[in-house]
Amino acid sequence: MAREFDIIVYGATGFTGRLVAEYLVQAYPSGVRWAMAGRSLSKLQQVQGEIGAPADTALIAANSDDPASLTAMCERATVVISTVGPYQLYGSDLVAACAATGTAYVDLCGEPAWMRQMIDAHEAAAKASGARIVFSCGFDSIPFDLGVLTLQDAARAKFGGPAQRVKGRVRIMKGGFSGGTAASLKATLAAAAKNPSILALLINPFALTPGFTGPSQPKGLLPEYDKTIEAWVAPFIMAPINTKNVHRTNFLLGDGQGKGYGADFVYDEMMVAGLGDIGKAAAEAIARINPLASDKGPKPGEGPSKEERESGHYDILFIGETPDHKRIECVVTGDRDPGYGSTSKMITESALCLVRDVAGEGGIWTPGALMGATLRDRLAAKAGLTFTAN
Ligand SMILES: NC(=O)c1ccc[n+]([C@@H]2O[C@H](COP(=O)([O-])OP(=O)(O)OC[C@H]3O[C@@H](n4cnc5c(N)ncnc54)[C@H](OP(=O)(O)O)[C@@H]3O)[C@@H](O)[C@H]2O)c1
Repeated sequence: MAREFDIIVYGATGFTGRLVAEYLVQAYPSGVRWAMAGRSLSKLQQVQGEIGAPADTALIAANSDDPASLTAMCERATVVISTVGPYQLYGSDLVAACAATGTAYVDLCGEPAWMRQMIDAHEAAAKASGARIVFSCGFDSIPFDLGVLTLQDAARAKFGGPAQRVKGRVRIMKGGFSGGTAASLKATLAAAAKNPSILALLINPFALTPGFTGPSQPKGLLPEYDKTIEAWVAPFIMAPINTKNVHRTNFLLGDGQGKGYGADFVYDEMMVAGLGDIGKAAAEAIARINPLASDKGPKPGEGPSKEERESGHYDILFIGETPDHKRIECVVTGDRDPGYGSTSKMITESALCLVRDVAGEGGIWTPGALMGATLRDRLAAKAGLTFTAN
């Protein structure tokens, strides 16, 4: 039976959730049945007015401290979009409620140790209920997950098999961070400091592939000269989450579907710093700076301005090499700042993809493994992304 809403945006009062709701107002003025949810009805009402949402938009009170309110919300939705983070602090009961009620779920999680805990705790229930749960539907990790998938589709078409070694090289990433993202990284670091098993998951490239460990992967912790692109490269702050998701996509696709990248697949991500001595100095400077570590950064609810979001963009090059040294490339670009302007479109279109385009079994998925090329086409058509392989 169809549920009351196609989509419920949970966390619509936060910095990113509000952008998601605003995108639905502007891009889908009709045809999508959706509601805004959060812990404060008065704050939801205020945001509803500020973003120009129709006066009859349903507002739903749900609080992560009150599991019954989460279950009641889930029962009304085909898909819940959650932007309530840090997920390790506020997200566990919602994943449990989605798994129990067979409700699809997408989020913006970049917290891999928590994701592994959720896989261990709820994958069986999600499989049983049919709940399609998809973490990391923002800049981490959609452009990377689908970039590698696109490259591998092209490698299979051109060479008859996947590239065994793939490098992700971020050439442009113009944008800022929000308070919620900084809080999520701090929550992860605090959890790791207290619990060595969490630290072990964070440094394990195969943390999200229970029962499978592939070959040794590049650590990506130091600047280096990359001969493949003849430029200096530096550590990339999102690599620890993206690389784990890419390995999980390989793991899920390889499992019986024959569309994986192989058990010997090696993948890393670095930031391109530049050429020659200037490139080297830039790579060393990037390696020293952690933009999320400062206490002076944005507070929860704050993030990059409209101008910063609209003038932001990104460009990522993927280079693949087959076991017999044939080379293939893919470029992914996005037309807004990665973390918010582009992310709010990506997560909304992911939710719509689950509502309208793909079925799929219940379980804990990645965007690439569940929605793959269908999501890629939707993002290219609607969300300002491009995917070009050659
Ligand atoms: N992967 C990516 O590319 C990406 C991009 C952007 C954001 N993110 C992630 O998305 C998450 C949100 O970031 P943000 O900057 O939007 O955060 P934010 O502005 O702080 O918003 C957090 C939201 O959570 C709500 N919330 C907090 N505690 C709650 C509770 N107990 N019950 C119900 N709701 C509660 C807040 O409600 P109130 O308004 O009532 O306080 C607010 O709506 C973070 O985890 C961040 O890392 C990821």
